[in-house]
Amino acid sequence: MSKVERLVETFIPENYNIFLDISRAEKTFTGNVAISGEALDNEIALHQKDLTIQSILLDNQALEFQMDNANEAVRINLPETGSMTLVIEFAGKITDNMTGIYPSYYTVDGVKKEVISTQFESHFAREAFPCIDEPEAKATFDFSVKFDQEEGEIALSNMPECSADRRQETGIWTFETTPRMSSYLLAFALGDLQGKTAKTKNGTEVGIFATKAHPSTSLDFALDIAVRVIDFYEDYFGVKYPIPLSYHVALPDFSAGAMENWGLVTYREVYLLVDENSTVTSRQQVALVVAHELAHQWFGNLVTMKWWDDLWLNESFANMMEYVSINAIEPSWNIFEDFQTTGVPAALKRDATDGVQSVHVAVNHPDEINTLFDGAIVYAKGSRLMHMLRRWLGDEAFAAGLKIYFDRHQYGNTVGRDLWNALSESSGKDVASFMDAWLEQPGYPVLTAKVENDNLILSQNQFFIGENEDKGRLWEIPLNANWSGLPDTMVEREVVIPNFSQLAAQNEGALRFNTENTAHYITNYEGELLTALMSQLTDLDTTSKLQAIQERRLLAESGRISYAGLVSILKELEHEDSYLVASAINQVLAGLERFVDEDSDTEVAYNNLVVDIFRENFERLGFQAKPDEADEDEMVRQIVLSYMISVGNAEVAKEASAIYQEYKTNIENIPAAIRQVVLINQIKQEDSLELAQSYLDAYVATNDSNFRRQLARALSNTKNPETIALVVEQFKNKDVIKPQDLSMWYAVFLMKSAAQETVWTWSRENWSWIKAALGGDMSFDSFVVYPAATFKTQERLDEFKAFFEPQLDDLAISRNISMGLKEIAARIQLVSTEKAAVEAALKA
Ligand code: BES
Ligand code: ZN
Repeated sequence: MSKVERLVETFIPENYNIFLDISRAEKTFTGNVAISGEALDNEIALHQKDLTIQSILLDNQALEFQMDNANEAVRINLPETGSMTLVIEFAGKITDNMTGIYPSYYTVDGVKKEVISTQFESHFAREAFPCIDEPEAKATFDFSVKFDQEEGEIALSNMPECSADRRQETGIWTFETTPRMSSYLLAFALGDLQGKTAKTKNGTEVGIFATKAHPSTSLDFALDIAVRVIDFYEDYFGVKYPIPLSYHVALPDFSAGAMENWGLVTYREVYLLVDENSTVTSRQQVALVVAHELAHQWFGNLVTMKWWDDLWLNESFANMMEYVSINAIEPSWNIFEDFQTTGVPAALKRDATDGVQSVHVAVNHPDEINTLFDGAIVYAKGSRLMHMLRRWLGDEAFAAGLKIYFDRHQYGNTVGRDLWNALSESSGKDVASFMDAWLEQPGYPVLTAKVENDNLILSQNQFFIGENEDKGRLWEIPLNANWSGLPDTMVEREVVIPNFSQLAAQNEGALRFNTENTAHYITNYEGELLTALMSQLTDLDTTSKLQAIQERRLLAESGRISYAGLVSILKELEHEDSYLVASAINQVLAGLERFVDEDSDTEVAYNNLVVDIFRENFERLGFQAKPDEADEDEMVRQIVLSYMISVGNAEVAKEASAIYQEYKTNIENIPAAIRQVVLINQIKQEDSLELAQSYLDAYVATNDSNFRRQLARALSNTKNPETIALVVEQFKNKDVIKPQDLSMWYAVFLMKSAAQETVWTWSRENWSWIKAALGGDMSFDSFVVYPAATFKTQERLDEFKAFFEPQLDDLAISRNISMGLKEIAARIQLVSTEKAAVEAALKA
């Protein structure tokens, strides 16, 4: 494969002076840019994609240039090298693909409106103006913009506006010069936006913006969080927030979740706005996303990876800091529980499939850049590795190392080694040699622990689910044992520790490894160690309970232990009231469900088991929130009710129906925390086309993205073929389902047996439409990932293979196709070998 050409090797930009004139009506823009910099060669190139270039001038002389569209570049022949300013006139089109400069569509009081904004990461600045569009090519930016502006509309960019007076005459918005930064961080947003602002301790102006389709109160929560998180980071990183403002804007159309543009962070609405009727989970999510993007203002924006192969420096780090900061400002939320129940299982699952990428991964082709943003790897695994490192070094040495790193590299670019060096200096530990194997190798180890002849024997092997080729990889495993007298880390394949009985006599409780579940491995306890651990399961702290159950479940997924054995663990958990255990139960039940055929005796047994496990919590929590109840109770209630409704418990269904009747004329007002189950229950009870249509109408009418998601999920519970057909008809109707939300609709319907055939067929028949609409988009690979995560029959595997194997040369989805094939095959294998045993255990 040819390497990506690095244009910064021949031209080093210093400053861009950019002017854009945008027409929303025509969906076009024209512009000019003066690029000052240094040419190291007479033949240079700038990135551009789908731009028309009218002229390139040097000292008022027109230069010759050639468009090189295949390489997204324009090639220029210079009469000289050295410092110079190139002036370029260009024009472009505004398209709907949510990259470069793009519109968002929304409706206020029945009037259709548009906001224009940008998405330049990873390499889409080149769609807006010619530039060296590589993270290493840092420069300052002077940005100004004019648009078909209407009364009351505004423009925002990375920096404060300067010369607002002149704007009154010219209509041109001009912004102060940015600090030295990468092109992917430039941004603007314009249209009829409302905002609220506040100041941090240090005087930074923080602002939250959204369209006027939302109540202004929906901005308040994020504003409070953003101010406090900036205060926290300034203290923790020891570096002041680097620019005058920190604006955050929610956009109706958005490809990713959020984007850390320096000073102008952009979001999907669901990740910034909090409706008055909201859930604990959605508020925590908003706080985490804001904290994530704010972490990037230092890690990513102030100091940036040299090249995309070190993307983990940005993302793994921000994904760790979001939890560290929210935990610091809202300790009562126990926000690490969110990581334990989302990121951790996601990483442990995906990283167990052979063929997965490592956290640090080479990038040889621009099409590969998108595939780097693997949520389970660069985000979840990467941040788990960071938490592991932070624990190994201690928080003080960790924070001190970051200060060294920022002092040394601010406004510059780095590779992973630069971070390790700074952390080694602050801690005195060899960080690189500890971390390299974790970052460079795919996968993770399973630590097997057993006792033989009074020796404690620990051994490590790569943990796989499904077909694999074991390459004999090893890691330096932090043992983090709850007993003293054991080594700190283990690098060998096997260690034998003598005198186990003496060790046991000196310590209390069952031996456990990886306490607090911060390191990236699982443990397989054998023999007496397992017996001891399991006999104390219900006495452990909640994280350890979740961890123990999660580890047994993963071992069962891999076929190392029997799935049926999990049923007896579940039966011990009916008195547990924590969110962590409720989520552990949820994971196991979701695993068991795959063995249960619809309308079978086993289903009856499974349903009874579900009711037994959750009855006590249901009686404790009911539907109504108690005044001053803990946030955790709301979260447990959601899991409990959702299972009770899904197994069709009559008592719970009756109560849910009564709530629906009460709110029938305005279902959006059902308390958000129970709205999902009430909406699902109604579909299950009634399942008429009229009800489905009323949900779709509510979907179009609302501006609350959480309510929209709940409606989609509720609709997926239909068994009515007419309803399924009605929904699938909307998949291509952008006035109902926004392209950004299509993969969510697809996923929820694909998981339901009544709808699977229809939506799977739809996706194959409409593949070229999906590719055209979402091909450059983050969510495109979901159309491979979701079937792979769902299918469990040979017939579906054959269909998956027949459809996707011919597309293996498409770099955007190639890895997910080959991993998907293994994943489905492993699931089929598991179901066929374990089914009888699981059925028997459920019926016992
Ligand atoms: N830098 C990313 C956004 C991004 C991802 C842009 C991929 C272009 C390509 C941003 O910081 C991010 O990580 N966003 C997450 C949400 C986050 C809170 C985990 C996302 O978009 O999923
Ligand atoms: Zn990020």
